[in-house]
Amino acid sequence: MSDLFHLADSYRARARWPDADRIAWIRKDRWLGFPKAEAVRKTLDAMLRYPPRTRMPCLLIYGQTGMGKSRIVERFEAENPRGFNEATGVATIPVVAVQLPPQPTDGEFYGEVLEKLRAGFAARGDTQRARLLTRRLMGQVGARMLILDEINHMLACTPRQQRIFLNTLRYLANDLQIPLVCTGNHEAQAALLTDAALAERFDAVELVRWQNDEAFRLLMVTLAAILPLRRSSQLEEERCRTSVLDLSDGNTGRIFRLVETLAIRAIENGSECIEASDLDADDLLMPSVSMKVIAQRRARTRARGRV
Ligand SMILES: Nc1ncnc2c1ncn2[C@@H]1O[C@H](COP(=O)(O)OP(=O)(O)OP(=O)(O)O)[C@@H](O)[C@H]1O
Ligand SMILES: [Mg+2]
Repeated sequence: MSDLFHLADSYRARARWPDADRIAWIRKDRWLGFPKAEAVRKTLDAMLRYPPRTRMPCLLIYGQTGMGKSRIVERFEAENPRGFNEATGVATIPVVAVQLPPQPTDGEFYGEVLEKLRAGFAARGDTQRARLLTRRLMGQVGARMLILDEINHMLACTPRQQRIFLNTLRYLANDLQIPLVCTGNHEAQAALLTDAALAERFDAVELVRWQNDEAFRLLMVTLAAILPLRRSSQLEEERCRTSVLDLSDGNTGRIFRLVETLAIRAIENGSECIEASDLDADDLLMPSVSMKVIAQRRARTRARGRV
């Protein structure tokens, strides 16, 4: 085995693991603090430390599916874990993060928050009680931030329910006196902006698609330095970067899936590195490759079949 100098110090030992263990490691969830994700995480950090006042800052993190919104929320929640207040004998939950149910009526929404607060409560039909209980418990557990992931789910509701939901957001933003953070797609952002009061309260930060710039080059450098392959990969090279961007459409989730798939192949076929030509393989499929690219490839194959 080579000296593994192409890997970051703390990742070298892993490259010596047996194949099955390396593959299992690649498939595991991990956090990569690329600059945009780190910037959002730091903003959340600053919001959490914001002194209480009548108007607390609110933030909408938006972007297309797979851009890493939920991953940021999960990471932030993990960094601010539940605890236990010895003096009062109650649990503390500094960051309450809930994922919105597929069609969030008011009752279901409060049900979800109460579940997170570990309060079994059948909210059905009694939204007002659920709301009061939520407010009381949020205070009791010392909640300092409420995060609602996937607010785009509200778009699956009727226009009337959507209005009710936006009212709920406004109520929460005003009443809880803690920062409110929402994540969603572009449609959710548009829906939020239709409410003048919310548009005024919320700052918005977009997770934009990756482009062939320095940030993306650094992401490729980082991946090449942490993936447990025994030979140096070409991920940083221009041809690799353009191919990865083309195939993934600049989508964070697809970029990770694609590079991970290639790394696993490199272990399985013994090449132990990712080269530009690996990205030409015709059998790279969803979810790592965008549907657009797959459709283009099929069209090309069909056209070739006709000549
Ligand atoms: N910071 C990160 N570190 C490592 N992997 C990441 C990171 N951000 C995103 N990913 C990868 O991208 C995938 C998609 O991310 P995530 O589920 O957070 O997207 P999302 O924006 O919440 O999408 P959706 O709108 O569909 O909920 C993750 O499963 C993970 O593999
Ligand atoms: Mg998500």
